[in-house]
Amino acid sequence: YGTQNTNEHGHLTIGGVDTIDLAKTYGTPLFVYDVELIRGRAKGFIDTFEKLGVKAEVAYASKAFSCIAMYQLAQEERLSLDVVSGGELFTAIKSGFPSERIHFHGNNKSYEEIVLAFDTKIGCIVVDNFYEIQLIKEISQEKQQSMKILLRVTPGVEAHTHDFITTGQADSKFGFDLNNGQADRAFKEVVNDEYIELLGLHCHIGSQIFETDGFSLAAEKLMEKIGDWYKNYEFECKVLNLGGGFGIRYTEEDQPLEPQVYVEEMIKTVQAQISKLKLTMPEIWIEPGRSLVGDAGTSLYTIGSHKNVPGIRDYIAVDGGMSDNIRPALYDAKYEAVIANKVNEEKNSTYTVAGKLCESGDKLIVDATLQQADSGDTLAIFCTGAYGYSMASNYNRVPRPAVVFVESGEHQLVIQRESYENIIQNDLPLDLKKGVKS
Ligand code: LLP
Repeated sequence: YGTQNTNEHGHLTIGGVDTIDLAKTYGTPLFVYDVELIRGRAKGFIDTFEKLGVKAEVAYASKAFSCIAMYQLAQEERLSLDVVSGGELFTAIKSGFPSERIHFHGNNKSYEEIVLAFDTKIGCIVVDNFYEIQLIKEISQEKQQSMKILLRVTPGVEAHTHDFITTGQADSKFGFDLNNGQADRAFKEVVNDEYIELLGLHCHIGSQIFETDGFSLAAEKLMEKIGDWYKNYEFECKVLNLGGGFGIRYTEEDQPLEPQVYVEEMIKTVQAQISKLKLTMPEIWIEPGRSLVGDAGTSLYTIGSHKNVPGIRDYIAVDGGMSDNIRPALYDAKYEAVIANKVNEEKNSTYTVAGKLCESGDKLIVDATLQQADSGDTLAIFCTGAYGYSMASNYNRVPRPAVVFVESGEHQLVIQRESYENIIQNDLPLDLKKGVKS
């Protein structure tokens, strides 16, 4: 787990910082990000492309975790950015991220969001549907401003962890179907447009994928389409974006490949197609989210109440839960944990880690193997860096946690803990006159 270690007090350390000190300084629940690990992952992807001599953009799929500091870190590491909403785009721009390296995704971008993309002069819109083509045409003509685009296609390849399925027509809300003429129609609608510059194609076949086959198959299908368009319309594809979805290790059952391996396999497939179809090599873009930040994040909680259900299970409850990590409740996602102030003690107890929210399904880990737990101990749940904070909510009016970055013995708050005042800041008092007797 990156720079995680144990110090002389038997405390878990991350980035050379004692997590118990972090819990004291910033309170819990707390997300702690190992910045060195994120930098290493980013370099791993970028170096692989460089080593293979393939022009590339590695776009951080920032839905996994976004905030100003994270965007600044992505910029430092020469990543591009995938944003999926006006909110992410706004945050990226505010962080000073170079707009020409921002790619804008989404299956229902609003007029205002597309205007924002034009006004901030982003690098590329990943166009999802015919309605969006019309909006982009209108806006670009109004503004007399050009825009680079990719067409997002659904290749009929869907990957689910270890399995991938191929179907003629994927039942997906995203993109133009590659196999039934939709993608061709979209191509014709944009290819000769005065203001639209079609760079190429995009697909994303799924998330938390452990094998390379799905990526290779998708790359093959997209390259065939590109070959058709070259043959029939002399279209030169500049960019092939193969999305994200590279799996990470949450528990020992997960056996991901090194992130670089996915890239190497993709490129092999594309190069084979290039020579077969006599095309020029496009730039390869990818969009890793989880694999850049997932295992860099650790959640720290304080253990409070215990409940024993005789003969069935021992519950320990923490001061957060599904409001800061919805993944166990939503996806039955599995995690591993440790009692951060007792790392050297034997893991000889089994507890179900419950959250504090008023819902029986609010359990973070069922039957976790842990050190003997006491109230006041600090529980560290690993691998919560992706889709943890970013999917957090104020359910039960629980304030969102704080987020801290650590690196080389230093720590820095990057998102403040929400206060009760924050929670009510958008509320307005009742002002209807009905029921008031005059
Ligand atoms: N590109 C596109 C177009 C995507 O839709 C996604 C994720 C990514 C890239 C990044 O995928 P990653 O490398 O992070 O797997 N909330 C779910 C994951 C949803 C992923 C949605 N799209 C979870 O917590 O597992």
